[in-house]
Amino acid sequence: MSEKIIKSSDRVKDIGEVFTPKKTVNFMLDQLEIKEKINSLTATFLEPSAGEGAFLVEILRRKLKYAKTQSSSVEEMQNNYLQVLSTLYGIELMEDNIEMLVMNMNNVFRDMYFNTFKAEDQNLKILKSAQTIISANMSQGDALTRKTATGKPIIFSEWKPVGKNKVQRTEYTFDSIVEGGGPLGSVQKQYEQMNLFAEDNSESNDENVRHYLPVKWEDIYKRLVE
Ligand SMILES: C[S@@+](CC[C@H](N)C(=O)[O-])C[C@H]1O[C@@H](n2cnc3c(N)ncnc32)[C@H](O)[C@@H]1O
Repeated sequence: MSEKIIKSSDRVKDIGEVFTPKKTVNFMLDQLEIKEKINSLTATFLEPSAGEGAFLVEILRRKLKYAKTQSSSVEEMQNNYLQVLSTLYGIELMEDNIEMLVMNMNNVFRDMYFNTFKAEDQNLKILKSAQTIISANMSQGDALTRKTATGKPIIFSEWKPVGKNKVQRTEYTFDSIVEGGGPLGSVQKQYEQMNLFAEDNSESNDENVRHYLPVKWEDIYKRLVE
């Protein structure tokens, strides 16, 4: 079956919507410098015009495969699965596309999870926490104005590992990440590895953000705040 890369000619004209074919995605992700970042538990990717996830979904698939090779116990592998998921960020303007993006990310995570772990090792908290991460990291908004559809600032979460099995979630406005200097530089630098959350952003004073408690990776879905 041929791939559908265009939804309508109006959308191509109005928002430049042309989805990238799988072959091109694979070719780009096979480039050495990208591969190096995929084969990392911590390297982050931001797709500022994510569409339905042509790139993010394939990066997730590849990162999960890598995470599998880096884990020596079931618990560590489950945490590593969530950790690699937490490194992927997307912004997309259109509501129908963001819905597909979130669904596609969830489906890939779920499929790989059920294929990897035996029934007795499966932990539904991991899947619930994956959903929480995906909805926090995939934002509907305008990457140029850095605002959501309702005019609020786009907010992203940093998911920082704490000790062996915990994570600290910290929210930043996209504005503060971009303006903070850091290697992010330009939102047009798609697919480049970026230290989204540079050290000098470690304390956010923005009133729009919440302050989360450190929790086990599997408890992210509880969204415990201070
Ligand atoms: C050329 S398509 C690429 C989609 C996806 N990256 C891919 O490779 O299949 C561009 C996407 O950017 C979205 N878009 C256009 N302007 C945008 C903006 N200002 N902020 C965020 N997304 C935008 C469109 O809705 C469309 O899904």
